[in-house]
Amino acid sequence: MLDFEYCAPTHVVFGKHAVERIGELVTDQNCKKVLIHYGGGSAKRSGLLDRVTTALEQSQISYILLGGVVPNPRLSLVREGIELCKREGVDFILAVGGGSVIDSSKAIAYGIANDGDVWDFYSKKRVPQACAPVGAVLTIAAAGSEMSNSSVITNEDGWLKRGLNCELCRCKFAIMDPTLTYTLPPYQTASGAADIMMHTMERYFTQVDTLNLTDAIAENLLKSVMRDVTAALNDPEDYDARAGLMWASSLSHNGLTGCGTDGGDWSCHQLEHELGGKYDIAHGAGLCAVWSSWARTVMPTNPSRFAKFAVHVMDVQPGADDTETANLGIDAMERFFESIGMPTRINQMGIDLTEEDMRELAYKCSFMDTRKIGRFLPLDKQAIYTIYQKAKA
Ligand code: NZQ
Ligand code: ZN
Repeated sequence: MLDFEYCAPTHVVFGKHAVERIGELVTDQNCKKVLIHYGGGSAKRSGLLDRVTTALEQSQISYILLGGVVPNPRLSLVREGIELCKREGVDFILAVGGGSVIDSSKAIAYGIANDGDVWDFYSKKRVPQACAPVGAVLTIAAAGSEMSNSSVITNEDGWLKRGLNCELCRCKFAIMDPTLTYTLPPYQTASGAADIMMHTMERYFTQVDTLNLTDAIAENLLKSVMRDVTAALNDPEDYDARAGLMWASSLSHNGLTGCGTDGGDWSCHQLEHELGGKYDIAHGAGLCAVWSSWARTVMPTNPSRFAKFAVHVMDVQPGADDTETANLGIDAMERFFESIGMPTRINQMGIDLTEEDMRELAYKCSFMDTRKIGRFLPLDKQAIYTIYQKAKA
């Protein structure tokens, strides 16, 4: 195993009464004015937004509102939010929603704390020096942005979806009430669970020797998510299942399952980000659509790692050798994705990739042929293209 540092500074308030703590948690931030940032309507429809604004009013905290964040959150709204916050003297952003709302909030927070164009940070031209504080009221178990150091934004100019990893943006607090996720459509529940699993699997598939404890946490987290998502799809108001998913969302992406490793592979995320930027698909579904094609491509470099995954996570009976066991594990994961209504090929999301599309995706994913992606087996532009081709249909 490798040496590591671990810091998960977000104050988590978890449970059925978590939202009641909002006034106190925001008051503790000693801010002058809050931007409440939210999405396309679910927080309004559920009454959550009213609960949040009422709590701030009762705590005499002044606030303004900005809604309209869409999945694969857009740079244009981030820029609008930055202008609004500067004009209004906002010094704290409260995200009420899922990964998209939290990521848009983090981007606005970077924008008001640094001079210049915020996209410079996402296009890796500059490194942010500061970030205004952000808090979250989470409404979907998925991206893990409530505890992660990441923010992912889509620039409509070129439809580039780009992530920024930086410790400065970690949420000050995260309010997590599993009952808030009861209203999720099944597809979002499943897509979110898939994303949670991928955050663990991206870290699990590493070539470095791992710590047994880290592997055990990852393997059990994956099994737990598979059990809980199946239960939540059967009964959307299964509190324990929703709670398991929500906590797994955070634990899968706050660094815990990467302790002692090289940080993980992340190829599937890079492959999905190009698809998400161009075709505006649900992130978790996009990950499922490329995962098995990626897995079958890279597995031969280390079949024993995939064989361990097959036995410990997918409960596969070992085959004649590691390669056979590994392939059985990949097959089993595909069947699981199908069982929760997730795609295992890109055409199952209604996208019929042409030769030109695949070349363009590979070109953009390799940052115009200047980088390789992934650590398990680094992939250049041609290898990326081959995976899109395998995953196409
Ligand atoms: O906009 P509303 O109306 O709220 O609808 C949302 C949206 O349509 C809906 N929804 C959320 N909570 C709901 C609900 N509907 C009913 N009831 C509720 N309680 O669900 C849809 C998806 O929401 P979104 O926030 O987009 O989901 P998710 O949390 O999966 O976030 C996806 C974004 O996060 C990025 C993804 O790339 C994608 O852009 N990621 C962010 C990461 C991070 N910051 O650490 C890591 C991830 O790997 C990921 O890349
Ligand atoms: Zn993800």
